[in-house]
Amino acid sequence: MSNLAVVVDPDAPGRLVLKPVPEPVPDRGEAIVRVRAISLNRGEIRRSTMAPAGWHPGWDLAGVIERAAADGTGPKVGERVVGFLPEGAWAQRVAVPKNALAVLPEKVTFSQAATFPVAGLTALLALGKGGMLLGKRVLITGATGGVGDFAVQLARLAGAHVTALVRRSDQVASVRQLGAHEVVVGDEIPKEPKYDLIVESVGGRTLGTALGALQRAGVCVTLGVSASAEVTFDAREFFVAGRTTLSGFYLFTELGNEPASVGLGRLADLVAAGQLSPHISLERPWKEIAQVAQDLMARRYPGKAVLTLD
Ligand SMILES: NC(=O)c1ccc[n+]([C@@H]2O[C@H](COP(=O)([O-])OP(=O)(O)OC[C@H]3O[C@@H](n4cnc5c(N)ncnc54)[C@H](OP(=O)(O)O)[C@@H]3O)[C@@H](O)[C@H]2O)c1
Repeated sequence: MSNLAVVVDPDAPGRLVLKPVPEPVPDRGEAIVRVRAISLNRGEIRRSTMAPAGWHPGWDLAGVIERAAADGTGPKVGERVVGFLPEGAWAQRVAVPKNALAVLPEKVTFSQAATFPVAGLTALLALGKGGMLLGKRVLITGATGGVGDFAVQLARLAGAHVTALVRRSDQVASVRQLGAHEVVVGDEIPKEPKYDLIVESVGGRTLGTALGALQRAGVCVTLGVSASAEVTFDAREFFVAGRTTLSGFYLFTELGNEPASVGLGRLADLVAAGQLSPHISLERPWKEIAQVAQDLMARRYPGKAVLTLD
């Protein structure tokens, strides 16, 4: 029985191909998951364009437990799960630590679940940096992307007054439908109104102007640079608000504080309850990964792309 995986091949169009890899060898605290759906994220695709031949990308997976962890803990054989790996998740069979797995309620599909790990957890944990959000003003930039889509919905669920920033006016209706009360169009955040929390993933001009749009004691969480990592800002706009914070966010670091299983379980419960709806705009067989990855980098679709395995 061979184990196919997505592997970097610099000679292949799109640099990503399916190739046989060795069977996973689990530690005592790891389960073997038969993967049924995966989703793609900007960071891992960016890395796969530079990674050496043979690298196995992949963070997000959903599937069925084929072999439970040898230490007797965690999900049982046959249970449906969602899981997160620091790399190599895009394979037919993978070994996943039990604290990076959550059991799926019946109502949650594999495709929905595959969107949770990076996009969903990033949105959930970044919003957590704002503390209690009830009645607070929250701005989500990159609101049409994988992270932004979850963040708008979750901020609304948490009781915030939500503003979404999008690039084009034809995107306004879709983010309103997600729950945004207000929408800003363009790459600049106006100085008024001020926000208690800004979840910022665009960088460049957007991050530069975000720093002047914080309420006193407000927090800007910077987690991505989809447009540009180079940022200039007017320092005076930043310091006159007093006690404002620019807070760096990196999911891999955050998961050192709280295992992925916790947030994954919360997201799954919200979806099962009909309160959260992952935005899957593309669902394809995984053999199309190279094309779907290129479409992601070119922003040819909003929300998330999911690939399914047989
Ligand atoms: N720090 C972390 O731990 C962490 C975790 C997850 C993600 N990230 C980063 O956060 C960012 C958002 O992630 P994602 O999964 O939501 O990405 P995504 O699905 O590709 O979405 C990108 C979002 O940024 C917007 N955008 C604005 N200017 C852009 C530009 N010049 N190029 C591309 N997009 C632009 C897009 O708008 P349109 O829809 O108009 O294209 C879209 O809303 C990415 O940079 C990602 O690498 C970081």
